[in-house]
Formats: sequence, structure tokens, C-alpha cells
Amino acid sequence: MKKGFVSAALIAAALATPAVAQMSVEDQIETRQSAYQFAAWNMGKIKAHAIDGSVAYDEKQVAAAANAIAAVANSGMSALYSRDSANDRAENTRLKPNFFEEPMKVQEIAVSFVREANKLQEEAAGGDKAAVARQFAKVGETCKACHDNFRAK
Ligand code: HEC
Repeated sequence: MKKGFVSAALIAAALATPAVAQMSVEDQIETRQSAYQFAAWNMGKIKAHAIDGSVAYDEKQVAAAANAIAAVANSGMSALYSRDSANDRAENTRLKPNFFEEPMKVQEIAVSFVREANKLQEEAAGGDKAAVARQFAKVGETCKACHDNFRAK
């Protein structure tokens, strides 16, 4: 009885993963591009408030933007990267195939993106403009690191 139950649970777990991977390549590409576009829009808002000063610093708006960036970073974006979605196999994407040949590098960059985005969220909630500006730069470095390595020009 108990053994049967465990097997059923294992089968259920095994089936749950491919269900996510079944998202079409087109949908993976569109969803990740939209997510990054959305993150970039929010990065732009923080830049205007904390770096350029083109907008008077508004703690609530900066915190809302930082929350959105952290949400993207923590959303499990890796599910949107299948091998078939790289630019040697798929259309309308700038993802380079080396993304799948350098998993340690991808992992390192992805982990730092999440860490720095979470820190930005914390600093934004704290309301210290100079600290937000410093942390904004750190998040920007992680965006750039990934683009320099894995995004085609
Ligand atoms: C883990 C790697 C990674 C991280 C981290 C990352 N990006 Fe990207 N980004 C990519 C890849 C890969 C593409 C190309 C996606 C495609 O074309 O399928 C991309 C595309 C984009 C695009 C173009 C989207 C479009 O409409 O085609 C923008 C804008 C962007 N990223 C901004 C950002 C910003 C801002 C950050 C940081 C807050 C960021 N990215 C973090 C890998 C990353």
C-alpha cells in the first residue's frame, strides 16, 4: 500500500516538470523578451529617480519599480530557456546557443541577478536614494554580464 503511494507521488512529480517544458518555443521567446522589457522599463524609472534626477525622488514609485524587477528575477526564468529556443534553431530571438554549453556561467549570473535584485528591493524599501543608486548599478552589471555572454548583438 505504502509503496504504491510513493510510486504514484513520484510519477506525479515526474509528470509535473514536462508540463512546464511543453510551452512552445515561440511562447518561451515572447515571454522572456516581455519579462526583460518589463524589467528594463522599471530599471528606467529607478534611473530617472535615483541617478538622472529627471524626476523628483519618490520612494513609493522607486519601491514599486524595484519590486517589479525582483519579481522578474525570482520568477524562475530558466523555464523559458529550452535548447530549441536559441538563435541557431529558432526565429526572432537573440539567445546564443552557448547559453547551453556554459551552465556554470549561466548559473553564476542568474544567481547574482536574483541576489542583486533582491538587495535593490530592500534598499528601495529603505528609501536611501544614494544606496538605491549604488545598488541599481550592481543590478545593471548583472543584466550586462548576461547580455555580453549570451545575447547576440
Ligand atoms: C540570465 C541572463 C539575463 C539577465 C540576467 C538579463 N537578461 Fe536581458 N536578455 C537576455 C537574453 C538571452 C535576451 C534575448 C532574449 C531573446 O531574444 O529571446 C535578453 C533580452 C533583453 C531585452 C530585449 C527584449 C526584447 O524585447 O527583445 C531587454 C530590454 C533586456 N534583456 C533587458 C534586461 C535588463 C534591464 C536586465 C536586468 C534588470 C536583464 N535584461 C537581465 C538575458 C538576460
